Amino acid sequence: MAEKMKEIIDVELKTRKVALEKCRTEMLAVGLFSDAKKLDKLNSELDRKFDGAIERMIGLEDFKAKCGSSAVVYGGAEQGIKRVLLVGLGEKKKATLDTLRKAAAVAANKAVAMKIKTLSIALHNAFGGRFDLGGMGKVMAEGVYFGSYCYDEFVTEGENGRLDTLPAELVDSDSAKIRKLSRGFANGSVIGEAQSYARTLANRPGNIINPAELAAAAKKTARTTEGLSCTVYDKKQLAAKGMGGVLAVGAGSKNEPRFIVLKYSPAGKKAERFATIGLVGKAITFDSGGISIKSAAKMDQMKLDKTGGVVVLSTMRAAAELKLGVNLYGIIPAAENMPGGQSYRPGDIIKTFSGKTVEVRNTDAEGRMVLCDGLSYAAEKNCDVIIDIATLTGSCMVALGKHKAGLMGNDDKLIKELQRAAHQSGEKVWYMPSGDEYAEEMKSKIADLKNTGSRWGGACTAAAFLRQFVGDKKWAHLDIAGMDHLEKTTASSAEGASGFGVRLLITYLMNLAKKK
Ligand code: BES
Ligand code: MN
Ligand code: ZN
Repeated sequence: MAEKMKEIIDVELKTRKVALEKCRTEMLAVGLFSDAKKLDKLNSELDRKFDGAIERMIGLEDFKAKCGSSAVVYGGAEQGIKRVLLVGLGEKKKATLDTLRKAAAVAANKAVAMKIKTLSIALHNAFGGRFDLGGMGKVMAEGVYFGSYCYDEFVTEGENGRLDTLPAELVDSDSAKIRKLSRGFANGSVIGEAQSYARTLANRPGNIINPAELAAAAKKTARTTEGLSCTVYDKKQLAAKGMGGVLAVGAGSKNEPRFIVLKYSPAGKKAERFATIGLVGKAITFDSGGISIKSAAKMDQMKLDKTGGVVVLSTMRAAAELKLGVNLYGIIPAAENMPGGQSYRPGDIIKTFSGKTVEVRNTDAEGRMVLCDGLSYAAEKNCDVIIDIATLTGSCMVALGKHKAGLMGNDDKLIKELQRAAHQSGEKVWYMPSGDEYAEEMKSKIADLKNTGSRWGGACTAAAFLRQFVGDKKWAHLDIAGMDHLEKTTASSAEGASGFGVRLLITYLMNLAKKK
C-alpha cells in the first residue's frame, strides 16, 4: 500500500456538566426552530448574556432557522462563550431525531471549517422532553462524526485547512440529564467512528485498496477489536471451496480476489442463546464493468463499489465494541472487476458455491456473482437471518433516486424490523418486490440462472436472483446504489463516500439485542 499521508480528523467527545454562566468555550452550538414564537429558556439566557443579539438577528430576519442553516453570534470580550452558533432546526412539528443528528453535523462541520478548538453542544435543549435523552445523546454523537468528516489523507501540497482534532463536548447544567445523555453519547460515538471508518475505506481508490488490502484492513480491525475474529480465503482456497462466482469476477485483475469472514460472539457462555445474523457485503474494489465495460463518464465513482463490504466490516467493529448480545458473521466477497486476457466473458457458465450454475450475460452484473457465493456461505453457516448490502443496480437509483435504499426480502417481520431501524437511524429504505415473477426472468436455457433480466425492474430481478441462494433462511437485501455517494458538499457533510448502512445495520442489531 502506498504510504499513508495524513490521518483523517480525530474527534474527541465527552460530556460536561456546567451551568451556562460558568461555561467557557470557543463556540457553543444551540438549536432554533423556524416557527418558535419566542426563544426557549436556554436561548433567552444566552441572549441576555449577548445583549439581545440573537433576538435582533431574528427580528431583522437575518436568520430564519431553516434546516441546515447556521449563524455565528459574537458577544462582548468578557464573555466566557466566545461565539454562539445558532443552528436552524426547521419547523418544530416536523422535527425528528434525525433533525437533531443533522444539526449536530452542521455544528461540527462549521467548527472544522472555522478551526474551532472546542465545540460545546447544547442542541438537545430546544427539544425539551420530546425525545429520551439517551436517544438525543446518541444522534448528536453520530452527527458530530458525520459532519466533521473529511477525506484528505493524500493531499500533500499546501495546507489542508483544518486542525487534526475536533474536541467536542455535550453540555448541560443538570447532572441527571448529563448521565442519560452520556450513555447515548458513548454508543453514538462508537457508531459515528465506525461510519467514518467506512467512509475512509470507501473513499480510498482502487490503486490503494484492492481485495488483499481490504482483507488486511479487516484482519487489522479484528486484531484490535475484542471479540472479533477474521479469516481470509485467497484464490487457491476459493478454488478449493468451489466459490466460482467470486473467482469469475476476480479473474480479470492481477489483484486477486479474497473472501473475508469476520465473526463476533459476545463473551461468556450465554452466546449460544442469542440468534446468529449473517451480514454479507459486496466489495468490488473497482468496477470497470469487465469485458462488458462501462462508459468513461463517472467511472471513477466505481471505487465506491466496495461500500457494502466496508459497511459490513465497520458494523462488525461497532457491534463488537458495543458488546451486543447477538452472534454475527460478516461475510465480504472481495474482487476487482477488470477487463483482461483472463477475464470472465459474456456467455460463460459459472458454477457457484451453491452448486447452481449461472450463465453470464453481462460481466458488469458482477455484484450478484460475488454475493451469491457469500449468501450461500451464510446459509451454510446456519445463520438465522441473512442481510446483504450492495451497490447493486443503477436501476435502483432510477427507481428511488438518491434518497432511499431499496429493501427486498422474504420475511415480513425482518422487513418491518429493518424499516424501523431505517427510521431511527435516518438511513432510509423503501420496500420493493423480488418475488416469483422477477425470478422467472432470471432463468437461463443453458444454465440454472442467468445474471441479467429484461430491461425493466433491474433492482427487483437482481434481488430475485440473490433470493435463490439463501435456501429457506430469512433474508433481506439492501440495494444502496446511489446512497454510497454524496455528490456535493453540504452544510452537514463533505462530499464523497457516505458510509450509508452502518447506522441502519447497527440500529437493527441494537434493537435485536435490546440495547439503547
Ligand atoms: N456497481 C454497479 C451498480 C451501480 C451503478 C452502483 C451506479 C452505483 C452507481 C453494478 O455492478 C452494475 O454495473 N450494475 C449493472 C447491472 C446490469 C448490467 C444488469 C447496472 O446497474 O447497470
Ligand atoms: Mn457492475
Ligand atoms: Zn458493481
